[in-house]
Amino acid sequence: MGQKGREISKLDHKWLIEELSKAYAFEWVVHYYASLAANIVSGLRTPVYADIFKKASEGELGHANRIAKRIAELGGEPPQTMADIEKFAGFGKVSFPNERSDIKGFIKVFLKMEQHAISLYNDLAQKTHGKDLVTHELAEDLLSEEVAEEEEYENMLRE
Ligand SMILES: [Fe+2]
Ligand SMILES: [Fe+2]
Repeated sequence: MGQKGREISKLDHKWLIEELSKAYAFEWVVHYYASLAANIVSGLRTPVYADIFKKASEGELGHANRIAKRIAELGGEPPQTMADIEKFAGFGKVSFPNERSDIKGFIKVFLKMEQHAISLYNDLAQKTHGKDLVTHELAEDLLSEEVAEEEEYENMLRE
């Protein structure tokens, strides 16, 4: 992003890059676990859910990439190591169901992740409101996607 582009962001860029790094790292965590779930889920409905988790994994990686682009525009760089990814994500331990055919067990994990993402983007959207329109729009956009994803998982739990 050029000089003018940076100037119009009225927030402390160091703080903003830090917040975006947390979101970037969290998206990578979700991306990783959704990919893992796609690979280990088993049972009769494996093809359906492997596909759902694979698509979710790709979607979250897409989110991470959009955030990385914004971090770069602000003159920063995303976290560089996998250890930093875990640290910035700050999500804690993820435990998949012991039974690989326990679809609902998997879905509950991802539902929790969507809820975490919703809090994250809701917070970012509020803090950037009227101060950094580009980051604000990104946060709103990602927020609406996470809200839709939460609902999809909730519906799957009702099946
Ligand atoms: Fe996401
Ligand atoms: Fe999501």
